[in-house]
Amino acid sequence: MTITSPGAAALRGAVGVAHTRVEGRDKVTGAARYAGEIPFAELAHGWLALSTVTRGRIRSVETAAVLDMPGVLTVLHHGNAPRLNTDYIGMLGVPPDPTAAVFQNDRVPYAGWPVALVVAETPEQAREAAEALVVTYDEEPHDTALVADHPGAYPAEGHMPAETEKGDLEGQLAASAVVVDARYTTPEQQHSMIEPHAATALWDGGRLEVVDSNQGTTWIQGELAKMFSLDESSVRVRSEHIGGGFGSKGLRAHQVSAVMAATALQRPVRVVMTRRQMFSLAGYRSPTTQRVRLGADLDGRLRALEHHSLNQTSTVYEFIEPGAGVARVMYDADAHRTANHVVRLDVPSPTWMRAPGEAPGSFAIESALDELAERCGVDPIELRLRNEPETGPVSGLPFSSRNLPACFREGARRFGWADRDPRPGVRRDGRWLLGTGTAAASFGAGAGPSTAKVTAEADGSFSVRIAAADIGTGARTALTLIAADALETTPDRVRVRIGDSDFGPAMIAGGSMGTRSWAWAITAAAGELRERLALTPDIPPEGITVRSDTTEAIRALARKERHSFGAQFAEVAVDTATGEIRVRRMLGIFAAGRIVNPLTARNQLVGGMTWGISMALHEEAVRDRETGRHYSPDLAGYHVATNADVPDIEADWVDDHDPDDPVGIKGVGEIGIVGAAAAVANAVWHATGVRHRNLPIRPDRVL
Ligand code: MOS
Repeated sequence: MTITSPGAAALRGAVGVAHTRVEGRDKVTGAARYAGEIPFAELAHGWLALSTVTRGRIRSVETAAVLDMPGVLTVLHHGNAPRLNTDYIGMLGVPPDPTAAVFQNDRVPYAGWPVALVVAETPEQAREAAEALVVTYDEEPHDTALVADHPGAYPAEGHMPAETEKGDLEGQLAASAVVVDARYTTPEQQHSMIEPHAATALWDGGRLEVVDSNQGTTWIQGELAKMFSLDESSVRVRSEHIGGGFGSKGLRAHQVSAVMAATALQRPVRVVMTRRQMFSLAGYRSPTTQRVRLGADLDGRLRALEHHSLNQTSTVYEFIEPGAGVARVMYDADAHRTANHVVRLDVPSPTWMRAPGEAPGSFAIESALDELAERCGVDPIELRLRNEPETGPVSGLPFSSRNLPACFREGARRFGWADRDPRPGVRRDGRWLLGTGTAAASFGAGAGPSTAKVTAEADGSFSVRIAAADIGTGARTALTLIAADALETTPDRVRVRIGDSDFGPAMIAGGSMGTRSWAWAITAAAGELRERLALTPDIPPEGITVRSDTTEAIRALARKERHSFGAQFAEVAVDTATGEIRVRRMLGIFAAGRIVNPLTARNQLVGGMTWGISMALHEEAVRDRETGRHYSPDLAGYHVATNADVPDIEADWVDDHDPDDPVGIKGVGEIGIVGAAAAVANAVWHATGVRHRNLPIRPDRVL
């Protein structure tokens, strides 16, 4: 890929031209500091102690012995911690997860629940004392196993209706020439971002300051203010560089316990999670058990579509992984029924994890469509094109744009799909059976309200301040390009500052909405600033600043089905003697709105597709039913795809400007994983003739 110089960018506009990360040099030289390594004077270190039982009550926390250990300053637990306000709805429209609101009572709802924070002069002293801390429990029996048709399951809404229904499902199934009725499961998956959660809290001149690694500084500011009953203006949260988030970097036990300790000791306190602690404290993707029933005519046209998804949550917090949501967007049928159900188990609270709902849901529905294509004798791409809906299958709303067919056409051409022999199990390369598979992808394309401040500096340069979060996506760079175009200047004359709640309310890095939402606010402020500059050619020493707020503009958006789309292709080789599966190549073609920075957008899409390979073949957090605890909660026991698993992977896009966005953006953060696991699983079927409906497709399942 060519990196264009700023001079050339000025002629063509900066948006759409590949640009390396503006903070890239700081990151590779180590000048960029992450939350856990920023120095503070008088810093004390907290270490979380987690429950060793899976369900019960805390009988005692034996603090006396550890308070005598070297360097130990205090031990916080439910017997001495301040009471928190947890009776509120946060910025994202949900109440706080009690997993973050630590030390409020003696109940233990799952293994690895935070029971105490030991604070000491050094992290080593804190860890030694936390490991020596004796906590006694009254244990109770537990249930940690998600099973289909669990008697405790119930329909649950989350951010969308629990159930949708139209038409006569049983009647249409009975009238169908071909019926697919299959169950699918996906296991518990962990975010596994490279940087563990870390926060430092301190009081500075009557203000609470938290230096953190999170997906939204004003989000965390708001949560902490409400929880500790503080004025929002007396809380400042900063988060400059973030080593991955994927949905996990929200309000968690580390920030809240650090604030408690900093308040009690009146000195800065840092709390860092270990990789093992993250398995119970940082959220995860719930396992799912799903059932899909499809009924079609012989030509593959759907008469009936049913998608039912069940996920688990903790007993203290309701989180929905809406696996059936994707069917509401992708395919229509005369009779259409979808349902998201949840069951409360003695497990940690799950949370958003890259494409929550779509990632596991697309595995089920896109596998089922492949089974239908096989049974109808229709090409899998042709089957999908025959079932393209005119409007939202459930909502009836128009699509803002729906370029899925263009993705399939371009993908099929580049992948070489036309020559494909549909028969399974007939291609060999030595000991390997070869197969190819495809699947569709979609992910919501929304925007959230944001504010931005854009300043024309006296020296002729521009500054942008916005509480955006660059969780590794390249958002800081994308926003620099956006601002440069909106200000009709070059990226080198724009300085974008992000990651500080003092910059004002802004959307989080989440739901693939970050860059679009922030770009909107920056574009609005920059446009007004240019008008001001036209009238005021002389810039005063303090510069001229314009502030924008997109709340009204976003509220005024017409109701439409707004989504990105994509077509995933995979070729696999399967060794039927060892059960080993190698993905030989993968291609994803996306219609994901206007692409701001091709370099980092491609990086996002390839990253998501790599997660899809990982989801298909490797990732699985396994819980022991007897103890209720994970086996090997670490990156030795939890396998993620590495470079060697991904030999040839390419992502590209078709033209797809969002008609209702000022810049034309949709968002690329999550769609890369959607459908990717199904494409791999469908390729494994094509190689071997065996359907795999339970992920991951481990060697022992292949044999
Ligand atoms: Mo994403 S799962 O909305 O951080």
